[in-house]
Amino acid sequence: MVRNARSYTDDDAVGFLVGDFDALPFADDSLDHVFSMEAFYYAADPRNTLREIRRVLKPGGTFYCAVNYFAESESTHAWQDNIAVEMTLWSREEYREAFRDAGLYVAEQDNVPDREIEIPDATEFPTDDWDSRETMVDRYRTWGTLLTVGVAP
Ligand SMILES: C[S@@+](CC[C@H](N)C(=O)[O-])C[C@H]1O[C@@H](n2cnc3c(N)ncnc32)[C@H](O)[C@@H]1O
Repeated sequence: MVRNARSYTDDDAVGFLVGDFDALPFADDSLDHVFSMEAFYYAADPRNTLREIRRVLKPGGTFYCAVNYFAESESTHAWQDNIAVEMTLWSREEYREAFRDAGLYVAEQDNVPDREIEIPDATEFPTDDWDSRETMVDRYRTWGTLLTVGVAP
């Protein structure tokens, strides 16, 4: 993933490093922002990861946590069947509670459905991997990504 990410930029100001959610390789109060896309639910101890994020954020720093695997988006639940790592399946409310338990204010929580991409006609876009075409449309049009934004006090 880092090799992939590096291939998108030759900007010397951008750095890459590999770390584990359970022990973020940053000093206390050292970061302005943390962004996680489609990764947080792989944390072995997500509550500890939130405490780690709280630890490394400066006062007023933000954590943008984006996940597509969450309780309300039911068609994503089957992902766990194909993944060896135990994944965290929290609801919108559980995300908010866990952020607060870790000492983060919840500034915002929203779903980011994809309503702009035109979904091709069923004959042009087979959905054999889904229970039904309606399930597929629900997954993208209704739920999409869950974004929870935390702020360090
Ligand atoms: C679905 S990929 C998402 C990657 C990228 N953010 C994107 O949107 O394309 C999930 C990422 O989570 C990382 N990951 C899984 N468990 C992790 C852990 N315990 N600590 C740090 N990263 C982890 C994986 O290495 C992988 O890069």
